[in-house]
Amino acid sequence: MKRLFVLLLTAALLLALVACSGNTSENTEENSSITVTDETTGSDETLQNTETPEPSASAEPETEQNTEEAFPETETTPETDTDSAHKSVLVVVFSATGTTKGVAEKIAKIENADIYEIKAAQEYTSADLNWNDSSSRSTKEQNDPSSRPEIGSERISLEGYETIYIGFPIWWGEEPRIMDTFVESYDFDGITMIPFCTSSSSGIGRSGKNLAENAKSGNWLEGKRFPGSVSESDLESWIDGLNQ
Ligand SMILES: Cc1cc2nc3c(=O)[nH]c(=O)nc-3n(C[C@H](O)[C@H](O)[C@H](O)COP(=O)(O)O)c2cc1C
Repeated sequence: MKRLFVLLLTAALLLALVACSGNTSENTEENSSITVTDETTGSDETLQNTETPEPSASAEPETEQNTEEAFPETETTPETDTDSAHKSVLVVVFSATGTTKGVAEKIAKIENADIYEIKAAQEYTSADLNWNDSSSRSTKEQNDPSSRPEIGSERISLEGYETIYIGFPIWWGEEPRIMDTFVESYDFDGITMIPFCTSSSSGIGRSGKNLAENAKSGNWLEGKRFPGSVSESDLESWIDGLNQ
């Protein structure tokens, strides 16, 4: 009986020991979770940091998005950046009846350049262009050196352009006044400006100088007049001469 009691007591002790060791591990787990919330130092913070990568990982794309969103205004940049030679030369042209535009396109082809067309906000009709009519729009504008017809085409960024060919028809021996609107609207600092024009017979006259004076910026070269039918090889020779 005494032996049975000792056995039972031993068994009870063993059970108690097993139960205690079970509690200890539970407590340890509890403690470790408590430690995370109660203590904010050392490795526990590191634990928190290792948990945060998820939100911060989701923040990363945001940052990337922001970077992309920072460039929408320069959307044209990637296009032109694919060909940097293309980007550095621009041909600006105003052409009421298409003749000067044809020459501009030949120059752009030779120079692998971009083209920007100046369009009047109020398009010129054939009545507007009637030089035999002293009260036509073009006659009135040309008779008034302060006239500045509004441009309708979107503004262009001149960033990255080193050379600009600037073309126009001769009206009453000079540049159409809309050309003055254009040159007064931009900063040509650091850009080489090369005027060219077409006409029935008149030379470029004072047009290039007028534009340079009104622009107040840019390195203006002497311009040249071409007939509308000028060949690509004649234009090439002219351009070669400019580069020497
Ligand atoms: C209002 C007006 C005035 C013009 N004045 C002259 C001029 O003084 N001398 C000249 O040789 N041609 C003159 N022209 C002819 C144009 O310069 C010529 O046709 C030019 O090539 C037209 O270019 P565009 O088609 O690009 O507008 C005049 C044309 C217009 C419409």
